[in-house]
This record gives sequence, structure tokens and C-alpha cells, in this order.
Amino acid sequence: MTERVVLAYSGGLDTSVAIPFLAEKTGAEVIAVALDVGQDGEDLEVIRKRALACGAVEAVVVDAKEEFASDFCIPALQANALYMDRYPLLSSLSRPLIVKHLAAAARQYGGTAVSHGCTGKGNDQVRFEAGLAALYPELKVIAPARDYAWTRDKAIALAEEKGLPIDVSAKSPYSIDQNLWGRAVETGFLEDIWNGPIEDVYAYTSDPSVPREADEVTITFAAGVPTALDGRALSPYQLIAELNQRAGAQGVGRIDMVEDRLVGIKSREIYEAPAAITLLAAHMELENVTVERDQARFKRSVDQRWGELVYDGLWFSPLKASLDAFIASAQQHVTGDIRMTLHGGRAVVTGRRSGASLYDYDLATYDTGDTFDQSMAKGFVELWSLPSKIAAKRDRAQA
Ligand code: ARG
Repeated sequence: MTERVVLAYSGGLDTSVAIPFLAEKTGAEVIAVALDVGQDGEDLEVIRKRALACGAVEAVVVDAKEEFASDFCIPALQANALYMDRYPLLSSLSRPLIVKHLAAAARQYGGTAVSHGCTGKGNDQVRFEAGLAALYPELKVIAPARDYAWTRDKAIALAEEKGLPIDVSAKSPYSIDQNLWGRAVETGFLEDIWNGPIEDVYAYTSDPSVPREADEVTITFAAGVPTALDGRALSPYQLIAELNQRAGAQGVGRIDMVEDRLVGIKSREIYEAPAAITLLAAHMELENVTVERDQARFKRSVDQRWGELVYDGLWFSPLKASLDAFIASAQQHVTGDIRMTLHGGRAVVTGRRSGASLYDYDLATYDTGDTFDQSMAKGFVELWSLPSKIAAKRDRAQA
């Protein structure tokens, strides 16, 4: 029986060339799998037809937008996930979802191997293969771009040789990955880290320095899930998509950073994530209002670890599952409204309101009506300082 390889297909040059390449190298039949994760690119049907035209025996296209929003973006939001305090993990989130669908397609179509277009220098190869190791460890992995040292010129030559229906001249000078949670751009002149990004690099955000009127938005959360914008109930996908437009129009969410890759190198990446950055600021502030102090302090270290695990390709790991359970339990009271001003590249919280608030006006106020008994503070401070006081006394005596 002819073997079958399931290919993670994007519709671009490299994965299109991979179809005849895999068929030739392995003698296997190629099943192409493409996902819509809100990348706003070509129509799925166009991509499906292209896969078949390149020689795939089956082409599976999946509208995974709601699944990506609910099962990947929302958990990242609840974990306040920002790798190195800045990167909202957009590429890191889509890979485990793609892996799920690759494994499902392998089961459905009798695939014995999986293929992806990642190079050997990036994080995504790890995310694909560590994910597959957890979900379907029997599958072999073939990564043509990595394992056969493809270059762009080789890929173009192969496409021309095979007469593939791809417009090679349309390929951008950048390496771009985009989805509902944001957009990542690297390579080209950006590899000189002294070079500033030009406006041309951006697609999700408008230039924040252009004068325009500010926008104001109220985001409603229920147990850590954003459920409405300005009082209009929306699905997670709809809400994120709409916020990408509104925050993007104000230039919110541009990030230019050098990051530590899992494979050990530092790389420069430009991100734009208008909805993610806005929602993260809103969610963090609602947690400030509704999560008890010690739970919140502990959660910050959980959040940090969660982001590192996901960045490092360990979405399907036991530790990640345990941290998920903690994060879920800490979301119980994260319910209420956050009002924000979107303007000049920033999303700034201006108001909070919650039935589960721990902010007690009567305790906090400096006006009349104060219920905080300041006389209790005196003894508290004395006992709080006692260990330091005793130690300092000892140190003085021994000096
Ligand atoms: N550096 C990011 C990550 O590892 C994005 C990777 C994909 N970036 C790209 N421009 N193709 O998650």
C-alpha cells in the first residue's frame, strides 16, 4: 500500500513545492491540511485547489477560527501570556492547533508521516514535533526545508521546474506569520537590529503617530473570558477580530524586539497584535480588581512559566495542564467591565467596574466614611518589622 504523508500546508511557495518534493522523495501520497486561524489571507477554497494542482491526493481545509480563539487565544489571555514580557505568543499558539488537525487528518486518511515547512533555526519545528510527540508519537516527521537544506532560490527553481501554479514573484521580502492573535514579521533589512521598521512592514496597525480622534471601548469579561464590546455580546473570535480593527486603527500593539529563541539564538522580530495587547491590558487590570493579593502574586509566576512552556513548544505537556488548572481556578471572579481609551498606539485603562470587586471604597477612601481602623496599623507594622529589627541588632553587635 502506498504510504501517506500529511503536510501542514499554508498555500505559500515552500509548502507548495513540498508537495511534489515529498511525493518524489518518499514515493508517498501527500495529503495537504490547511487551517484558517484568522490570518486574513487567501480564501481556503483557493488554497485547497492549489494543493491539488501541486499534486496532493487530498486537500483538507479547516475553518478553525472559533476554535483558535476559544481554545488558544483565550487561555493565553487568562495567563496574561507575554513571552519576555512583550510577545503575546501568536505563532506559538497556532502551532499546537495545527498539530491537532494534522494528527486528526493522519488518523482519518491513514497517514504514517507528517511534514512541515519549518527550517531548522526556528521555534516552530519544535512546536510541531513536540506536539506530535504528545498527540501521535507513531508518526514520522519529514521537514523538507530543514532536512534537505532548501534555500529560497532552490524552492523557486523547483517550483519552476515542476511548473507549479504559484506566483514566485509575489513572495514578500519578509517572513511573515499571522493569525487572529497578531502578526509576526522578520528577515530582510530587519535582520540588522539597528534598522528601524518602516511603515511598509505593518498590516494590522495604522501609524500611531498620525493625529486622529481617540476611540473608547468597554470590554466585558465573565470568569476571565471577554464576552462583549460596548455591551454587544460577541463570540471570542468576533470580539478579537473587531478589536483588531478598532485598536489597529489607533496603532495599538506594535512591538519591535530581540527575543531568545528556543534553539539558542537571539532573533529580531516585529509584531503587531492590536486586540491581544488591548485585551491583555484589560484582563490584567480586571484581575487587579478581583483577584486576592496572594493568589494574584502567585499567579504572576504561574503566568510567566505558562508563557515559557507555550513558547517552548510544550502546549501538550503535563506541567502546562497543571498550570491551566490553577489559572482556570483563578479566573472564577474575573468578571466585570473595563473601559479603555485607544489612541496614539496605546490602550489605556480608564475605568473598572465589577460585582466581584475586592476594591472596597470605604476601606480605601481618605474622605469621611473611612472604615479602615488606622490604630491597628501601628502594631501590625511593629510586628512586621520585628525579624529585620532583631537581625540588624545582631549584626551591629557582631560588627
Ligand atoms: N518568533 C516568533 C515565535 O517563535 C514567531 C515565529 C514566526 N515568525 C515569522 N515571522 N515567520 O513564536
